[in-house]
Amino acid sequence: MIDIKPMLQKDALINKTILITGGGSGLGKAMAKQFLNLGATLVIASRNLEKLQLAKEELEGQTGGKVYVFSCDVRDYNSVETMLDQAIETTGGIDVLVNNAAGNFISPTERLSANAFDTVVDIVLKGTSNCTLALGKRWIENKENNKNILNIVTTYSWTGSAYVVPSATAKAGVLAMTRSLAVEWAKYGIRSNAIAPGAFPTKGAIERLLPPQLQHLADMTKKIPLARVGKHEELGNLASYMVSDYASFLNGEVITLDGGEWLQGAGQFNFLREIPESLWDALEQSRKKK
Ligand code: COA
Repeated sequence: MIDIKPMLQKDALINKTILITGGGSGLGKAMAKQFLNLGATLVIASRNLEKLQLAKEELEGQTGGKVYVFSCDVRDYNSVETMLDQAIETTGGIDVLVNNAAGNFISPTERLSANAFDTVVDIVLKGTSNCTLALGKRWIENKENNKNILNIVTTYSWTGSAYVVPSATAKAGVLAMTRSLAVEWAKYGIRSNAIAPGAFPTKGAIERLLPPQLQHLADMTKKIPLARVGKHEELGNLASYMVSDYASFLNGEVITLDGGEWLQGAGQFNFLREIPESLWDALEQSRKKK
């Protein structure tokens, strides 16, 4: 059993105000907690203000940190602008943007309506571009520097994945945006990086994506070489490092945190993992006899 402790010094994020979209639940909230524990001030934004208020109370209670909440639909540029106006006026400025808000569902692609496809692309890709553009313009105009963007992508940003095609399409775009802006905006002192998390179960995530009849297909211990799912603290540790000044030379990188899951599906001979030691012994004996 691994005991995951905070990786960075206690005040590693002390002077950082961090905006997390979709930070009221799931992995966004898990990252928020770790950032707060390292001294950051947090802004969390999503559509549901009631959910955000509950998250704020929980996070402040757990960490003693300060959390500001603003309702915002990331699909709508004006809504993002209004949220940023309020957040910047309240906090004095934002140093880090974590584009975490997402929407996803499984479906054969031919069964999707055009609106269903748009809905996911609008949240994931347009939501990320809206927040990035609106905040990036302000950082550049005000000649602020030492800012950074952390995008949450997935390994199917580059492998693609059947049955989640709108999400795969949008996440591929987010990865391209990450790498493009890493070069273009470096001159303004803005870094862009991404994390591709694997299986980090959240309350309700699997239930939402997979109906009960399909959940037996999702035995993660078989899909992941390390034979376990990730712990939220592990994601929080990586995210904390990437947004901190310890990572000030890290730019344009996507770091996969999935226990080796996607590579297991990729290597041509990886199926040999199924072979027991006894069969390897027998094969070795027969080779030596020859
Ligand atoms: N399969 C196929 N189509 C679906 C669908 C599903 N499971 N869920 C929604 N749609 C379609 C709807 O039918 C609608 O299309 P239509 O108007 O042509 O019928 C379109 O998508 C929009 O649906 P709606 O429910 O109005 O969208 P919404 O904006 O309220 O929410 C989600 C859509 C995906 C964002 C919603 O499921 C959600 O909020 N999920 C929680 C967040 C999440 O998914 N996180 C995933 C993290 S991996």
